[in-house]
Amino acid sequence: MVLIKTQKLKKIYRHNKIETEVLRGLDLDINNQEFISIVGPSGSGKTTLLYVLSGLEPYDDGDIFMFDRLLKDYTEAEKAKLRSLDIGFVFQFYNLIPNLTVYENMMLASVIGKHKTKEEILELLDLVDMKAYINHYPSELSGGMQQRVAIARCLINDPKIIFADEPTGNLDIENGKKIMELFKKLNQTYHKTILMVTHNLDLTSYGTRTIHMIDGQVVKDEKKSK
Ligand SMILES: Nc1ncnc2c1ncn2[C@@H]1O[C@H](COP(=O)(O)OP(=O)(O)O)[C@@H](O)[C@H]1O
Ligand SMILES: [Mg+2]
Repeated sequence: MVLIKTQKLKKIYRHNKIETEVLRGLDLDINNQEFISIVGPSGSGKTTLLYVLSGLEPYDDGDIFMFDRLLKDYTEAEKAKLRSLDIGFVFQFYNLIPNLTVYENMMLASVIGKHKTKEEILELLDLVDMKAYINHYPSELSGGMQQRVAIARCLINDPKIIFADEPTGNLDIENGKKIMELFKKLNQTYHKTILMVTHNLDLTSYGTRTIHMIDGQVVKDEKKSK
């Protein structure tokens, strides 16, 4: 089952009459339960692709189908709903709210969707091995711990797909590995579809498929045989 499909997708940034074509006719199918690593040099359009797919940035040409429906046909309110309920986001710098505890960060995320009980929140924190830290503030945690909380938070509305942009980009190798093992578990045990952007080729071994991007186009698409 295809969750997301792009056809000849084009995205141009315009600044002071200078046009930069960042996505240049990109074709991509994302299937249910895949764990895709998107790799490519800095500036190849990886982050832009995530912004465009999530409806945060408009696109200039081509089509995007999000869950069988043209993204163009979504209203702003529907796109906001898509981002809060159907897509879970994980960022390089965690983006936890600094003046809220781990538990409060989770609560805040659950306000947007279906209300979660304390038990449900603790269960998610347990999954990422952070249950013992519910009353800690982000500044009291290591980067790896903060990222694990951010992963628990991205799961709170039970999204169909997780978008992760360089999720280990700010972590040392050991902590990076823990994060990658966690994504692998979410994919294999919890059947989450994952679209992870990275410029570290070593991390692609955790996924089921690797897409190489250069200059806004897919230049190589490797599916792992299981
Ligand atoms: N908001 C923006 N305005 C103008 N140009 C941008 C903007 N965001 C990114 N770019 C340009 O688009 C290209 C791709 O950027 P990006 O998607 O961030 O690449 P990657 O994530 O692969 O490093 C780069 O040349 C970058 O300078
Ligand atoms: Mg980027």
